[in-house]
Parts: sequence; structure tokens; C-alpha cells
Amino acid sequence: METGNSADAIETHGLARSFGETRAVAGLDVLVRRGEMFGLVGPDGAGKSTAIRLLCGILKPDAGEARVLGFDLLREAGPIKSRIGYLSQNFTLYGDLTIDENIEFFADLHGVRGFRARRDELLDFTRLTPFRRRLAQALSGGMKKKLALACTLIHRPELILLDEPSTGVDPVSRGEFWNILSGILAQGVTILMTTPYLDEAERCGRIGLMHGGRLFMTGTPAEIRAAMPGRVYEVACPAPASAYRVLRRRWSSANVVLYADRLRLSFREGASALAEAKGLLETEGCGPVRASEAAPSLEDAFVGLLGEGSST
Ligand SMILES: Nc1ncnc2c1ncn2[C@@H]1O[C@H](COP(=O)(O)OP(=O)(O)OP(=O)(O)O)[C@@H](O)[C@H]1O
Ligand SMILES: [Mg+2]
Repeated sequence: METGNSADAIETHGLARSFGETRAVAGLDVLVRRGEMFGLVGPDGAGKSTAIRLLCGILKPDAGEARVLGFDLLREAGPIKSRIGYLSQNFTLYGDLTIDENIEFFADLHGVRGFRARRDELLDFTRLTPFRRRLAQALSGGMKKKLALACTLIHRPELILLDEPSTGVDPVSRGEFWNILSGILAQGVTILMTTPYLDEAERCGRIGLMHGGRLFMTGTPAEIRAAMPGRVYEVACPAPASAYRVLRRRWSSANVVLYADRLRLSFREGASALAEAKGLLETEGCGPVRASEAAPSLEDAFVGLLGEGSST
């Protein structure tokens, strides 16, 4: 009898993996519930891909334990592999095969019998049907990602692990790509994905903020925004670039962000720091200054929390 019937899709305790001196994943504790879309968010080198590869069984951990779909990651790799789909960050399609042939190849790989109906369904779902005889090498970046996603889903996995699925997809196609992901979720598939884009992470049900191989906060996008330490302000003035230089002499790039027509300031101290900034700008001839409080974005929260939760 199989042991995999856990209510959680993924549960890890102290999962770790180093490459030489680099602690790529340094004690990961994460819980992904069945049926949710969970986003691992973090900057380059945070350990996102390594975490995903550990959970797929492609890499062996140095320490820690994990259950995937109720199965033990180390002792029950077989049943896990047949139930998950993995889209790697550097996925490869066969450029000299058509869309249809690429999906057939993945169907063979997974031993999917009678794959044709499933393929039609996936092509319809990803809106690739009109292009099915086109060679993969002739597809746009967005179409390639959609095809890779279709290949990942051919064997009806219960859980899919997507490493930066939307990177390289243009902003217009990205909206459509996200709608496709939401459709997959609606069919009951659990999704664990990584993204470097905080605006995209908004669309996940829950997010784990990752840095230096560790998860330093988990929550819904709203919970993470609410945990932002301090306040955020939008500041308009006649010469934002000059104002930026003035403020950067006093505060760090985590506090002051320059946009084309305004500045965005994040201060742990809140109103008192804003008053100081306004005073400084007026004194340095950067006025008149108009400031208003803004709702923190996920990016504001990430930068603010990172300052608190890590040594960097
Ligand atoms: N096979 C490997 N050999 C040596 N070092 C590695 C290997 N894979 C990852 N690393 C290192 O481990 C750290 C984490 O890498 P990882 O690819 O997991 O990060 P990431 O969050 O996916 O980054 P990115 O956003 O750039 O994809 C990095 O410092 C990276 O250089
Ligand atoms: Mg990566």
C-alpha cells in the first residue's frame, strides 16, 4: 500500500544543499498545501532553482527531509516522479520537431498511452492548436513557454514545479500565460513556481520570500505587504534626479528609489524621516516638494523585510 495521502503537497524540514562553499539552500522549511499556487520569490542566486531541483529529486539534499504528495522524498522517489511535472528554468524543446511531435516525445517519455486526446486538450487550453505543425524553433518566446508547459502537463501530474515560467515572455503574452496557469490551478493541480518578479508574485495564493538559501517569510501577498516595516511615500518635485542625489547622501538605495517623474521613499521611522527628507530637499533648492503616503507594494515589503530578516 502506498503511503502518499497527505493533505499537503510539499512539506520540508531543514532541507539543505551546498555546492562547495556555496550554501545554495541553507535549511528550507516550507509547506505547500494541495490545490494552491505557491510562489518562491527571491533575487538571483537566492536558491530558488536549487530548492525546486531538490523537490523534484534531481538533486540530493545534504541534510533535511521532505514529503512530496505524501511520499518521502528520499525513499519514495518513484511514486513522486510519476505524479509531478517539472518545468526547468532552462527547459529544452526539440527545435527540429513540431509542437505536436514535442508533446508526443514527452508523452513517450512518461509512458502516457492514448496521449492524443490529452494533447488536443492541452493545445486547446494553451491556444497552440493553430500552430501545431510549426517547428519549435520557429516559435516566439511566449509560445515556447506555453509548449513547455503543455509538455509538463501531458501525464496529468498532481503537482507541477515551474522554475521562472514567465521569464522571457512578453508582457502581453504574460497575462495570457497567467490565465492559463490559473486554469490549471482551477483543475485541481497544485503549483509551486519561482519568479524574480514581485508584481507577478501578487497572483500567487501564497508567497515565500527567499534569500541566501532560506525562506524568511511566508504569507499571502496581502499579509506580506502588511508586514512591511515602516511607511512608503511618493514624492513629487521639479527635478527628481537632483532630489535623488541629495537624498542618497543621507539614505540608502533601499530607502530612496528614483522614477522618471517622482521618488518613492521607504522609511522605518515613518513621518519623522519624511519631514527630514522634505526639509533637506527644500534647503538644497529641490522644492517645492509634494509628498503623499502610498500603499506598500510587494517590492517595498520585500526590500524592507530583507533589511530586517537577513544580515545583507
Ligand atoms: N550546480 C551548481 N554548482 C555550483 N554552484 C551552484 C550550482 N547550482 C547553483 N549554484 C549556486 O547556488 C546558489 C543558488 O543558485 P540557484 O540557481 O538555486 O539560485 P536562483 O534563486 O535560482 O537564482 P536565479 O534567479 O539566478 O535563477 C548560487 O550562488 C549559485 O551560483
Ligand atoms: Mg533559478
